[in-house]
Amino acid sequence: MQKPIRKAVFPVAGLGTRFLPATKAIPKEMLPVVDRPLIQYAVDEAREAGIEQMIFVTGRGKGAIEDHFDIAFELEKTMADRGRDISVLEATRLGPGNCAYVRQQEPMGLGHAIWCARDIVGDEPFAIFLPDEFMHGSPGCMKQMVDAYTQVGGNLISVLEVPREQVSSYGVIAPGKANGALTEVTGLVEKPPVADAPSNLIISGRYILQPEVMRVLEGQEKGAGGEIQLTDAMATMIGKQPFHAVTFDGTRYDCGSKAGYIQANLAVAMGRPDMADAVRAFAIDLLK
Ligand code: G1P
Repeated sequence: MQKPIRKAVFPVAGLGTRFLPATKAIPKEMLPVVDRPLIQYAVDEAREAGIEQMIFVTGRGKGAIEDHFDIAFELEKTMADRGRDISVLEATRLGPGNCAYVRQQEPMGLGHAIWCARDIVGDEPFAIFLPDEFMHGSPGCMKQMVDAYTQVGGNLISVLEVPREQVSSYGVIAPGKANGALTEVTGLVEKPPVADAPSNLIISGRYILQPEVMRVLEGQEKGAGGEIQLTDAMATMIGKQPFHAVTFDGTRYDCGSKAGYIQANLAVAMGRPDMADAVRAFAIDLLK
């Protein structure tokens, strides 16, 4: 029996400079894909996987995320008084037992951001979501990972193949034995030069990790880009605990890039009965 995954960490302190000026006054995690902000998709994916507590590692200027997951009393009351349907807001309410916020005071890297949540995570396995990795599919990526976790336990990361020339932007795995969607991880390296990359399988922003990673992060030296890297901390756990990669059965959109963000919007719009026809007709017209 594995300990259940009850908590998820969402590192959301990043500045979002790639989307300026859109992200000057709003967090990049609040950019909408059609009509839901990116962070909402990640939280919904966590909930679908049975996760109960959402831990946001935030920073200055990220208050909109807290407001988003709060009750908007005036809005709800006004809408209710006017007989409007407020069910659309249901998924946005996270009660006090279901969310926690902690600040990363300095931009010292993903590993440091996760370590900032150590006291709230405590001594249990937990999930991590990088919200700009938009995982589109059903069941969701984390649900698929939790299902795999109940079989193999230990540590799991989601992976996908990218063209080899792109590996230097990511964490890359050295793959061992594969069994269906599960692959053993025998090594991990963050942002390697293309020539040194052990494969073209990259870490795609979803993790299930054992709490020992927090102890490792405690003493983790700076790595790629002069930042404290989660990948480096995970690498030291290989061989001590089971470590597997899960290939997501679905589509991933890199919403940290503008092209990926537009693709995600189109894909979601095409799946919406209320707008698919109009968007498709327009896209066909535009391509003429
Ligand atoms: C982070 C991780 C990297 C992972 C990537 C996925 O990098 O460090 O291992 O592959 O997210 O998007 P970042 O995009 O923060 O540089």
